[in-house]
Amino acid sequence: MRNIAAKVNIAQINWKPDKQSIVPMHKQIYDFIKSKIASGDWSIGNRLPTQVEMANAFKVNRSTVLEAYDELKTEGLIESKKSSGTIIVNNTWSVLASKTPPNWDKYIESGYQKPNLNVIKIINELNMDSKMIRLGAGELSPEMYPVQYMKSIYDHMLTDVHYMGYEEAKGLLPLREEVCKYLKPMGIDVNPNKVLIVSGVLQALHLISMGILRRGSTILTEQATYIQSLTLFESHGIHLTGVAMDGEGLVVDDLLRKVSMKKPELLYTIPSFQNPTGILMSDKRRSAILKLCEKERLPILEDDTYRELWLDEAPAAPIKAGDQDETVLYMGSISKSLSAGMRVGWIVGAERVIDRLADIKMQTDYGSSSISQWMCYEFLAKGYYQSFIQSLRGELKIKRDFTLKILEHYFSDIATWQKPAGGFYIWLTLNKEFQMYRLFESCYRQGVVINPGNIYDITSNKNIRISFSYASLEDIEQGLIILARMIKLNLNKH
Ligand SMILES: Cc1ncc(COP(=O)(O)O)c(C=O)c1O
Repeated sequence: MRNIAAKVNIAQINWKPDKQSIVPMHKQIYDFIKSKIASGDWSIGNRLPTQVEMANAFKVNRSTVLEAYDELKTEGLIESKKSSGTIIVNNTWSVLASKTPPNWDKYIESGYQKPNLNVIKIINELNMDSKMIRLGAGELSPEMYPVQYMKSIYDHMLTDVHYMGYEEAKGLLPLREEVCKYLKPMGIDVNPNKVLIVSGVLQALHLISMGILRRGSTILTEQATYIQSLTLFESHGIHLTGVAMDGEGLVVDDLLRKVSMKKPELLYTIPSFQNPTGILMSDKRRSAILKLCEKERLPILEDDTYRELWLDEAPAAPIKAGDQDETVLYMGSISKSLSAGMRVGWIVGAERVIDRLADIKMQTDYGSSSISQWMCYEFLAKGYYQSFIQSLRGELKIKRDFTLKILEHYFSDIATWQKPAGGFYIWLTLNKEFQMYRLFESCYRQGVVINPGNIYDITSNKNIRISFSYASLEDIEQGLIILARMIKLNLNKH
């Protein structure tokens, strides 16, 4: 005989939710049922009235009862079965007493900032594993850090710096003055009011997306670019459109075409040792791009993060140096040439734009760390920065040349590349298309982390960004041998 569970008699429920209460109706119904189970009035196996019966008895919508039932189900107190209706399945004290935490998943999905690209999340995790060979990492290796200079600066700071409160909105004035002195020989002649200190260029990009760009607007970028690997512009509803590049940087004809087609609000460019391609924009190209943008009244956001890392000869002057009409917003950072963890960068431009960004920065974090700003000031003011970069260039050059030699040996039959004149990166173009994620995965299973090119250009299935800055010479060789093997293995699978 089928065992039909005893049903709670709706007619005997002598209770109704209070419509005047500030407690939502579904919560009152939920509390009532829970109290009935806790007191033992209703026991395991009892069948609850149907949602319609409850709704009629309590004079509420069915959806209100449904919400209460759903919460009880989430807590494991009741279950719905097609054959027997909604049954009480648990009355243990621990379940009744437990409070369900807020539904954080719902909150997490509601935030406007999109999560990082999955591959980037995996790369970030793998990069924290010291056993991995990091062939994609865009930072200096730990041995390269200017430890001696840092020690001397710490000592000075103990005696020289007596105050570390909130700084001015645009950042520590002595640092901004030093930044102006540092930029002058490059042809950028500005006063400290046109300089905003930021916690890295990444923060400058956030401030720009929040402060001066419209949702739905378009930014032109190099076809493969650092900012494609970020979700920050997408999160603000801003579209990115790639412009073709050749060996001298952005192709002017294509830029002109995209300007007419897309009506962009900004051109973002990395003219010196571009990330990820390593391309150095020629002087002529810089002038042509500035001229075009001035004519079109299109602001340029110039990211000069890699400028100091020239290995053969100094790059052409920044685009900003030729800017007479305040078309260019110029960004610099010490992340690649001194310390990524100090989180110091700057943005230079028209004063009203800098005022606007400074106001947003104050609302965001009330200024960058005083310690970092003072340290950066000391590095610049004492000439340590310039001395350090000089020796850094020597070390990086050895690493670049070594990497090129290894590539020549193991990759000539499977890929092509250009010798970068500076920066950290060599942009490999494989002879065949690949399933990039599969290649990435097979490499990290062998202990090598690579940055697949499609995180910088979604249309690319042939590129890998190799970085020679982080791994030791030994690791570079071993890592590249493994990568070449994985490419050949994956090739053979096709
Ligand atoms: C072109 C470019 N701009 C900016 C950044 C971020 O720099 P920061 O550490 O100053 O935020 C990077 C880091 O990889 C980069 O490659």
